[in-house]
Amino acid sequence: MILVLGATGTTGGEVARQLIAKGQKPRLLVRSPEKAREFEGKAEIVRGDMDSKDSLVSALHGIEKLYLVSAGTNGIDLEINAIDAAKKAGVRHVVKLSVIGADAPALTFSKWHARSEKHLIGSGLAWTMVRPANFMSNALMWAPTIKTQQAFYQPTGEGRWAAIDPVDIGAVAVTALTTSGHEGKGYTLTGPESLSGAGYAAKLSSVLGKPVKFVDVPPDAAKDGMLKSGIPPAYVDALLDLFAAMKAGKADAVTDTVEKVTGRKPGTFESWARRNAAAFK
Ligand SMILES: NC(=O)c1ccc[n+]([C@@H]2O[C@H](COP(=O)([O-])OP(=O)(O)OC[C@H]3O[C@@H](n4cnc5c(N)ncnc54)[C@H](OP(=O)(O)O)[C@@H]3O)[C@@H](O)[C@H]2O)c1
Repeated sequence: MILVLGATGTTGGEVARQLIAKGQKPRLLVRSPEKAREFEGKAEIVRGDMDSKDSLVSALHGIEKLYLVSAGTNGIDLEINAIDAAKKAGVRHVVKLSVIGADAPALTFSKWHARSEKHLIGSGLAWTMVRPANFMSNALMWAPTIKTQQAFYQPTGEGRWAAIDPVDIGAVAVTALTTSGHEGKGYTLTGPESLSGAGYAAKLSSVLGKPVKFVDVPPDAAKDGMLKSGIPPAYVDALLDLFAAMKAGKADAVTDTVEKVTGRKPGTFESWARRNAAAFK
């Protein structure tokens, strides 16, 4: 049996949905079953918290494979709890959602994930690291100002990045969880094309049928805005670190890993935007 963490979130939700579509009945550990209503009757829903070793151990009972994801500034500590509990419970294979660059960490996010990757590798459990680039769904953070000002603001200048559709991240993780040959592998995942802020704006303009403008902003202004919106300071610093790398052209790589692992090409930003257009209107 497969245990999926984070099923009420972006990638865990994709993993759960795609496992169910393949005829599996995964177990989902969630903090709020009411947020997991779409999975009622299709998955075994267990209330728990990765903060609690007891709830992890009981959710992991009888589990062979684990989709490991967390979030927030203590997310890596939560992952380490889950890895230790998985080891105790006799789990065989862990598929961990990591981040692009965690195999040679240079940025804050990749350093955070490198700590969890190292713990997983050191645990002796079989592992697969899924290392995606920026999610296309991050564009939802642009929605409020796109709605009110037909613009979005980000300190990335002309820097380009190859955002990936979370559906493709889920597809790679599900392939690793349900077919053989993925143990000990690290998969660096990107979307099919690397675009600048202006490039993403042009795609949104075409999909939404109205002009959308990308505005480069100084990092200090971006920092103020993010802090005011309630993002924790450590997370703001990690984002600024990432934006600086994007602006410097260090995040524009495109890989063909999604196609190699799943056999199908990754989705474009345009197709993601068409499916999510309502969020920008
Ligand atoms: N966004 C990006 O561009 C990007 C790129 C590469 C890698 N990543 C990595 O992706 C990960 C986030 O993945 P995601 O976007 O799929 O997650 P997400 O949408 O942020 O959702 C996080 C999930 O974790 C659950 N969770 C958080 N704390 C928990 C706890 N104490 N116990 C049990 N469950 C808990 C949440 O449950 P609730 O619904 O109860 O809150 C939610 O289901 C992070 O590690 C991030 O570094 C992100």
